[in-house]
Order: sequence, then structure tokens, then C-alpha cells
Amino acid sequence: MKILVTGSNGLLGQKLVYALSDRSEIQLVACARGENRIRRKTGYTYISADLSDESRVREILQKHQPDCIIHTAAMTNVDACELDPESCKKHNVDSVRYLLDACKNPATHFIYLSTDFVFDGTAGPYRETDPINPLSVYARSKAEAETMIMHSGLPWAILRTMIIYGVVDDAQRSNIVLWTKSSLEEGKDIRVISDQFRGPTLAEDLADACIQAALHRRTGLYHVSGREVLSILEIACRVADFFHLDKKHIHPVSTAELNQPALRPLKTGFIIDKAEKELNYHPRSLEEGLEILSDQLRKKESH
Ligand SMILES: NC(=O)c1ccc[n+]([C@@H]2O[C@H](COP(=O)([O-])OP(=O)(O)OC[C@H]3O[C@@H](n4cnc5c(N)ncnc54)[C@H](OP(=O)(O)O)[C@@H]3O)[C@@H](O)[C@H]2O)c1
Repeated sequence: MKILVTGSNGLLGQKLVYALSDRSEIQLVACARGENRIRRKTGYTYISADLSDESRVREILQKHQPDCIIHTAAMTNVDACELDPESCKKHNVDSVRYLLDACKNPATHFIYLSTDFVFDGTAGPYRETDPINPLSVYARSKAEAETMIMHSGLPWAILRTMIIYGVVDDAQRSNIVLWTKSSLEEGKDIRVISDQFRGPTLAEDLADACIQAALHRRTGLYHVSGREVLSILEIACRVADFFHLDKKHIHPVSTAELNQPALRPLKTGFIIDKAEKELNYHPRSLEEGLEILSDQLRKKESH
């Protein structure tokens, strides 16, 4: 089976490459913008491409003809999307259309990563059957891509997820766990939102769910996140406790006070029963995830 992973320099993309490049039954093609930032260079083919270039997308799919595409690449900075809706459309909507159009084989299994932000946050935790109501440019772009995929005629699976955390080889973007940890270690004061609630998701758990969907050619919508729904403030405090860091630098702030450019849903969280049954998804608790992450950081430092 040949799998194309897009966004392979990103947090989830890197975890997918590490997990798939060891499997002898999988031929892996990893695709990202610019240089390959993953330390491991063997066990897969790397392609550098910007997916907002339609002819390049056609060329790649023509050449590699994957059985499955796991499309993780996206413009993921929610406020940047709000401030630059044109770029957001280009990277989150147009590139999805190019990929779908370029799939000459109608049996190509298209796996897409979407977000809890398609919901408005007034009635979480959410099931796959709940109606969506995206509040921001980013959220609307992901919802628009979902609709295109659902009507593409290809077999598709959409995995919605939220607040992913983990360690990457060469991080361009941080995440709540790494940001809290490094800020507190440096003795920096941080303002953390106290009235938004999410289920923190370990990147490795999410990668496993994507791989199960690919291997078993699962189709449909899946909610894939950590089981526990916590305020962002609570997540930061549990990170501080885990790493024995001083919580005095954590300052609660409300969504209204922070006044970010993009609106965010206040309380999401997912009911993950379907993913548990059909994707054999059994997410680790936050502390189990932090244990894995701290192990990886130790190994990284000793390299
Ligand atoms: N992170 C979260 O908490 C979260 C929550 C809900 C849903 N999701 C969804 O889950 C997926 C994976 O998230 P993630 O955290 O792994 O994202 P990430 O770390 O930001 O990685 C996304 C990658 O996409 C690449 N990319 C963006 N536009 C591209 C283009 N036009 N052509 C090629 N590559 C492009 C970026 O490249 P550069 O590195 O060159 O910028 C980046 O490496 C995304 O689809 C996101 O919308 C994420």
C-alpha cells in the first residue's frame, strides 16, 4: 500500500512519518514545503512541494499514484488566517481541491484532518452527528474543505481533532505543553485562558488513529481527541505540576480580556466512542502523554 502524507514537517506529519516508515507493507511518500525537517531520512521518499501550486500537485499525484492520502498540511495559525483570509483560502481550501481533482484513481482513500473549531462551542462535548457552526476564517476554511471532500466521490475519512501536543524534530510552531514548560523553565510570566475547554490530544495517539483509518480503509467522520475536557488553564497547571515547575508564573485570563483576532469556541471536547470502536483508538491520559513527551525530550537532549 502506498501512502502519501502531506504536511510531513508539521507536528502530526512528523509522527506519521516515524510511525509509517518502519512498516514494510507501506510505501511511504512524505511531502512538505521546503527542506525535510525530520531527522530520520530513510524508509520513505521525501518530496518538497507547496500544495497551493496546482500543477505541482498534479505532477506529484501522477508520478506517485498513492492508494491513500493523509492530508495534514494546512495553515494552522488561527489568528494568521483571520488576518489573511486569502492565504488561508489558498492553503486550506484551494490545495484540498487540487489534491481531490488530481486523484485519477477513484479508489484513492482520502484522509483529512479537521478541527473542533468547526463547532461554535456552545454545546460541547460533540458527537460526529452534531451540527457545525464555524466562528472564524480558519474554521470556515476547514469546514469548506470537509464539504468538498464529502462530495468528492472518493472514499474519505475525516478525523476532527483538537489541541495537539508533542515533540517534533525541528519545531516551527510550539504547542500548549512545550510552550508552558519552556516559559515556566525560563521564569517567564504567561497568560493562560481560563474559560476555553478542550481535550488535549497526544500527537502519537492521533497518528495511530490516522494509520488505523488508512490500513482498514475506514470511511466517514471521526472525532479523535484526548478523553478529558479541561480548561487551557488547567492543562497548563497540570503541565507545571508534572514537570515540578512553579505555577506562580501562570496568570489566568479570560477570552474577552485576551481579545485575539479570531473568535474561538469556548467549550468543545469530543465524544470519541466511534473512534474507539472503529479505529481502535485508546487515547492516553494527559499525564501518560507527558511521560512520553518528557522521555522524548530527554533523548533529544542527549543527541
Ligand atoms: N495543532 C492543533 O492543535 C490542531 C487542532 C485541530 C486540527 N488540527 C489540524 O490537524 C492538522 C495537522 O496539524 P499540525 O498541528 O500537525 O499542524 P502544523 O504543525 O502546523 O503542520 C502543518 C504543516 O502544513 C504545512 N503547510 C501549510 N500549507 C502548506 C502548503 N500550501 N503546502 C505544503 N505544506 C503546507 C506547514 O508547512 P511549514 O512547516 O512550511 O509552515 C506545516 O508543516 C492540520 O490540518 C490542522 O488543521 C490541528
